[in-house]
Amino acid sequence: MINSSHILCIGAGYVGGPTMAMIAARCPHLKVTVVDINEARIAAWNSDDLPIYEPGLDDVVRAARGRNLFFSTDIAGAIRDADVIFVSVNTPTKTFGQGAGFAADLQYWEKTARQILAHSTRDKIVVEKSTLPVRTAQAMERILSGNPTGLRFEVLSNPEFLAEGTAVKDLENPDRVLIGGHDTPGGRQARSIIADIYRTWVPRDRIIESNLWSAELSKLTANAFLAQRISSINSISALCEVTEADIDEVAYAIGTDSRLGPRFLKASVGFGGSCFKKDILNLVYISRSYGLNEVADYWESVVTINQWQQARFVRNMLANMFDTVAGKRIALFGFAFKADTGDTRESAAIGVARQLLAEHAHVVINDPKALGRVKDDLEGQADDVECEKDPYRAALGAHAIAILTEWKLYQELDYERIFDSMEKPAFIFDGRNILDHRPLFSIGFNVFAIGKAPLKHF
Ligand code: NAD
Ligand code: UGA
Repeated sequence: MINSSHILCIGAGYVGGPTMAMIAARCPHLKVTVVDINEARIAAWNSDDLPIYEPGLDDVVRAARGRNLFFSTDIAGAIRDADVIFVSVNTPTKTFGQGAGFAADLQYWEKTARQILAHSTRDKIVVEKSTLPVRTAQAMERILSGNPTGLRFEVLSNPEFLAEGTAVKDLENPDRVLIGGHDTPGGRQARSIIADIYRTWVPRDRIIESNLWSAELSKLTANAFLAQRISSINSISALCEVTEADIDEVAYAIGTDSRLGPRFLKASVGFGGSCFKKDILNLVYISRSYGLNEVADYWESVVTINQWQQARFVRNMLANMFDTVAGKRIALFGFAFKADTGDTRESAAIGVARQLLAEHAHVVINDPKALGRVKDDLEGQADDVECEKDPYRAALGAHAIAILTEWKLYQELDYERIFDSMEKPAFIFDGRNILDHRPLFSIGFNVFAIGKAPLKHF
């Protein structure tokens, strides 16, 4: 009988770190270790300056670290000690070979499976926490069962649904915890061991058990549906701009239909983040590989609309700034892919900055948490970019401001002061619809928002 007193997570990233910190904080009777091949990341988890910014995370880590939560690079030793191993390594889109640009790159995943096999000396439960193509658990089982020692590995899928910026809240109070496993005595026992861990703080009726493949596919499907809502509202935003309908009014009106609900209907410059695009492309690849081309095309269009929305935003800037931004100072307010995170993976701001730089604009970027990412994310063009910690200084002498991340601080700025310091005519392109546009127009700005009629003085 496998017990669950020693928990290990392989991969100390945005998912591994916060999820394990929460388990350790809520379950003081369990020992939780998180390992990673990235030594700097582990050192940061052991310091006062955690490697990721998440509201509330410092307190959760501080409550458990050194008591029953440990961060380490001793992967072999930690595997030997563990009863339950969560695997939360990265699963990016493949950039080479078959399926390049669509399929998941499973090299980190497979390496982990082989490491588990190499260092295990007793039976274990292995839990997929990473987001994986449906039926990946089967490959994991095949690798793990290829052992001459006769050890038994029960593979489960427990996908993570937290969103960055609200990770702590999402983990404390999840809509649901999904645990997929085989309907065999071993599978049922393993599922109930994992369910017992979550039951410490998650209500029983929010813990859903299913078969392995349903759990794997539910994760991809959830992300695809969420992203689809954003692309749907963004597609309508373009129609609003030419018909003088207002996208926020349309979103509110449809969101009051209880069958649709109000969330994830905020039109924007486009969704970013490490997962939506990757997971949809993965779904597209799987569908095509089963010959389901119509299904693949349907989901691929969600990504296509997102790219179009980003490109459309820059086209709109250019068209309204007299078809040239060459040599013009343009302040980008926000670089993170959403507010309350320092993460910039697939951020719309990267594409917008790159397109403006290609037009020879002088780009100045402000962001309260993500400025450290600018050099790497804009590699090849970074020398032409200025990073500025103070939004007022970023806007000084600028022709335009583009709001790219919905940080609350951008709603609280003194826009009269900003207007006075800018070149005229002064433009605001609100890619997040977070500002109050009429007063800005009255100050003198030309205001262009997503899905709204422009407010122009000329
Ligand atoms: P991440 O890149 O932040 O972290 C992954 C970590 O795994 C890295 O630190 C990397 O060094 C480590 N790693 C890779 N191979 C390893 C190995 N062999 N041994 C030890 N460590 C290894 O990624 P993330 O954002 O935490 O995402 C992890 C998974 O969770 C992905 O599949 C992702 O799709 C999924 N997910 C992410 C989020 C999110 O909000 N970021 C939410 C839900 C699900
Ligand atoms: C998303 C999902 O919300 C999580 O459930 C999932 O676990 C996670 O992906 C994952 O698998 O990684 P995340 O990407 O962290 O979480 O953040 P979201 O809040 O979903 O935002 C994604 C992007 O969509 C952001 O760029 C955000 O600004 C944008 N967005 C979101 C909109 O443009 N409009 C909206 O109405 C909502």
